[in-house]
This record gives sequence, structure tokens and C-alpha cells, in this order.
Amino acid sequence: MSFNPKNPATLDLLLNRRSEKSKRMTGPGPNEGELADILQSGMRVPDHGKLAPWRFLVFQGPAQKKLSAEMARCFVKEGGEQDSSRHIAQMNFAHQAPVLIVVVSRLTRDHKIPTREQLLSAGAACQNLLVASHALGYVGQWLTGTGAYSKGVAKYLGLGENEAIAGFIFIGNSNSALKERPRPEFDDIVTYWPND
Ligand SMILES: Cc1cc2nc3c(=O)[nH]c(=O)nc-3n(C[C@H](O)[C@H](O)[C@H](O)COP(=O)(O)O)c2cc1C
Repeated sequence: MSFNPKNPATLDLLLNRRSEKSKRMTGPGPNEGELADILQSGMRVPDHGKLAPWRFLVFQGPAQKKLSAEMARCFVKEGGEQDSSRHIAQMNFAHQAPVLIVVVSRLTRDHKIPTREQLLSAGAACQNLLVASHALGYVGQWLTGTGAYSKGVAKYLGLGENEAIAGFIFIGNSNSALKERPRPEFDDIVTYWPND
């Protein structure tokens, strides 16, 4: 007797889900209840040592615009070229979709659980946020880019020295069919280890 009931719809989602480009996302985004479910799903990931090595910062509306402005300011302050295409991309970054979740990886150093495993758990959180968004009929995308590595942006977000941005997860709607991207060949990735 299995305690995990069969759920073919979930398998179908996993086999077919794909991301949408954030800059193509439209509204509406998830409502308050849906967003709470998406965030709960993000917290329900394998986590060796129960360290919860992640936290989520949710940006919507004006908070997104403020973050974009801050990202653009940091870009120039940290040596980026004013009015360049990369600068403009930062100016428009955080509010390109209805919802932005910044997934912060939060490492406990000098712990028996290696930091590498803690970081992997943050990756799993990012993926669960995407899958839950897709399950609710939204589209999502996981981005990093310049802002994810900016000291200024980290400071604006109040990140500690043990923290870093694992991903910017954008969630929204899409008006058009999602484009598939090339996927690796099964046999290039999977090896069934011989028994003899
Ligand atoms: C950690 C991480 C960072 C990423 N950062 C970017 C990025 O900055 N820009 C970008 O165009 N794609 C980035 N991607 C790829 C996008 O998420 C892309 O939409 C994704 O690979 C599409 O795959 P999917 O359709 O299976 O979701 C990143 C992916 C990962 C895992």
C-alpha cells in the first residue's frame, strides 16, 4: 500500500513544463492565496539537516519598480556603463512580470552539512516555486544575471554575509504558446549501471 497516491497530472506537468521568458509575461499574476501556496511549495523541499537554507523575498507592484531602480543604480556604481543596453535591462529587470520572488540561499557554515548541499536545497526551492506556479496555470522563469552578483543589490535586500541570491523567480501569465527549447538526449544523460 502506497501512501503517495498516483498522480498522473503531476507527472504530465513534470514531463511537459517549460519556462516562459519573463519579459514576455503578462498579468494577472497569482492572487494572494495562490502565491501563498506557491511559497509553501518552495519551502517543501529536501533539506539535509533541516537547516532551511533559504528564504524568499516577495516583490509585487511598487516594490518591484523600486528594486529595478536600485539594481540600475548599483549596476552603474559597480562599473557598468550608464545608458548601455545592460543598464536599461537592469532598469526594467525586477518589474518585468507580475510577481518576483527572490530566493536567498542562506548557508550555515562550519556545519556537518556541507554548504554545497545547502545550496542544492535552495536550487530545489527555486524549482518547486516554478513547478507550483505552472501547476496553478501560471508561467515562470528562473533568472540570475548581474543583479544576482551585485554587492549593492545584496545590501539593499539586507542579505547577510552567509547569504546570496540563488535565483530571481518571475511568475506571470502568458498570451502565447510557450516555446520549447532543445533538451538533452536521454542516452547522453542516463546510464543504467550494469549488474555484472
Ligand atoms: C541558476 C539559473 C540561472 C539562470 N539565469 C538565467 C539568466 O540570467 N538569463 C537567462 O536568459 N536564463 C537564465 N536561466 C535559464 C532560464 O531559467 C531558462 O528559462 C530555463 O533554462 C528554461 O528551462 P525550462 O523550460 O526547463 O524551465 C537560468 C537558469 C538557472 C538554473
